[in-house]
Amino acid sequence: MEKRVAVLQGDGIGPEVTEAAVRVLEVVARRFNHTFQFDFASIGGEAIDKFNHPLPEETIAICESSDAILLGAVGGPKWDQNPSELRPEKGLLAIRKHFDLFANLRPVKAVPSLLHASPLKEDVVKNVDMMIVRELTGGIYFGEPSRKTAKSAVDTLVYTREEIERIVEKAFELARLRRGKVTSVDKANVLQSSKLWHEVVEEMKKGYPDVEVEHQLVDSAAMKLITNPGSFDVVVTENMFGDILSDEASVITGSLGLLPSASVRSDGFGLYEPVHGSAPDVAGKGIANPAAAILSAAMMLRYSFGMETEAATIEKAVETVFEDGHFTSDLSVEDGRVHSTKEWTDKVIGEL
Ligand code: NAI
Ligand code: MG
Repeated sequence: MEKRVAVLQGDGIGPEVTEAAVRVLEVVARRFNHTFQFDFASIGGEAIDKFNHPLPEETIAICESSDAILLGAVGGPKWDQNPSELRPEKGLLAIRKHFDLFANLRPVKAVPSLLHASPLKEDVVKNVDMMIVRELTGGIYFGEPSRKTAKSAVDTLVYTREEIERIVEKAFELARLRRGKVTSVDKANVLQSSKLWHEVVEEMKKGYPDVEVEHQLVDSAAMKLITNPGSFDVVVTENMFGDILSDEASVITGSLGLLPSASVRSDGFGLYEPVHGSAPDVAGKGIANPAAAILSAAMMLRYSFGMETEAATIEKAVETVFEDGHFTSDLSVEDGRVHSTKEWTDKVIGEL
């Protein structure tokens, strides 16, 4: 297959980790007889410096002519005092909105050789393998009216049936590819939007008799994520609850450098990026952990290109390198097994 990938490296460690992911993709292309064409474009602080805009037109055009987007990270102290329209993270919000990427997929999986890095007991974390599916383009972050006066402030939480249906459908489809269970999280005992959410899930589950469905209230789900995270498979929820729960889930395995993400829409187009930020404290040193970026590239192959074998091959290679005891400096292990970004990527390429 021939695919075009827009690579938006961004700031800080963004270029270092996306370079690692591109190297891995090039090896996969050779091994499986594909052609990937990489088109590089600017986003975030780097784009502000060059184009005076966090998401230049030229970048949008390159993404539009691509089959998927691979992104590093944006932001850093250099731009922290900028006015709001010249903030790097504006670029991220704008690109998700421009492409209507309504489904944010955040897998969290325990790495057996890294259980000690978790703040939870090893016994609690060892079976963790979940996928949080967060609605990304609706809900209270986009609700009207939204205003503040000296005396009061209002935000509005709106969901349409259509918005709920498309994200819930995504969750059911993902569950079928995984362990066949969906946990729908809402606050249906209080919120009208959650009552509608709950109803839609109940209706849609009839079309997926092979998928087990449970409903959980968001407060109870927050507790269970910490006390029994291994009990979840696919978790689907609205934008704000998903924002909070996915960040809570991201600390379970103990390292941000391991977590990939995808933001996709129904036709398969998507944006793939590590969960972590631009890590200015380690940027430019060649020591960043590229695992999250490499695993994001694997998600791109699976969800945008339908290349399941290729995706699984990358995931297996990453797992094997960890199992063989090779790490980067962000993971607390003894010296000698700690590699630079490039060395660690070479190990993954060796496995491929
Ligand atoms: P961060 O995720 O960049 O870093 C948090 C800590 O984890 C730092 O100590 C960092 O060195 C470490 N870390 C993160 N990823 C790592 C990796 N791959 N390898 C080794 N160490 C890693 O979050 P922080 O420090 O809150 O934000 C830094 C900048 O990144 C800010 O400008 C923030 O706005 C931006 N940011 C961007 C995001 C994005 O592009 N999606 C997401 C989160 C933050
Ligand atoms: Mg968040």
